[in-house]
Amino acid sequence: MGVPALIVAAGSGQRLGAGGPKALVELAGRPLYAWSVDAFREATHIDRIFVAVPPGRSGQFTEPGITTVEGGETRSHSVAKGLAAITAEGDPGLVVVHDAARPLVSPALIDAAVIGLDSDPGLHALIAATPVTDTVKRLGEEGVVAETLDRSQLVAVKTPQVFRVEILRRALESGDLAAATDDAALVEAAGGSVGVIESPSGNIKVTVPGDLELAAYFLERSR
Ligand code: CTP
Ligand code: MG
Repeated sequence: MGVPALIVAAGSGQRLGAGGPKALVELAGRPLYAWSVDAFREATHIDRIFVAVPPGRSGQFTEPGITTVEGGETRSHSVAKGLAAITAEGDPGLVVVHDAARPLVSPALIDAAVIGLDSDPGLHALIAATPVTDTVKRLGEEGVVAETLDRSQLVAVKTPQVFRVEILRRALESGDLAAATDDAALVEAAGGSVGVIESPSGNIKVTVPGDLELAAYFLERSR
């Protein structure tokens, strides 16, 4: 089985503050997004790699074998644009969405997520997540703790996220794209059933400058 991947790399990286698109920031000698492209190239069940890039920047995304698509205003808008480009070639059934900002994703996790969704007809999506290790509290008015949540029921969501294309397309059409931080939430809101697959905790997202050092350390260690 081979399915297309969409690596979303169109963000501006405000919190990293590198003065340019985060996906192009150097990590261990290569642009950040290239590490994700490698993992998807190595995955057995991926047959095409699309990358959503910041408008006007496609010339700087030079990794071989990728198809670039202009991204949109929010992450979900970038996913919608990428998905439109993918489905223009026909309906692939499943699609994998991944943050370019997660350079430590492994081919094994990508393949396991694709197989996991393909083999479970009851699910509309399967998303990578890790158990929460901190105790999480919900704040009420004036910042006072209103509730301590049951940690055994909580997970922190990551990517890759695998979707049934038709469900994702409909969720993106009807959902509030500006407010969504994750497309699985749009699928949930549309009544879809979303499963989780455990991700290694090392599959971090590069968000602030310290994350780049951490990612470089993890990459070095995994070589
Ligand atoms: N993303 C995207 N299109 C957008 C916004 C985000 O493709 N309009 C992508 C980013 O490139 C990133 C992933 O979504 O790979 C996760 O987003 P985030 O970590 O928030 O990246 P940025 O939006 O670039 O960073 P910031 O929020 O700090 O500006
Ligand atoms: Mg962002």
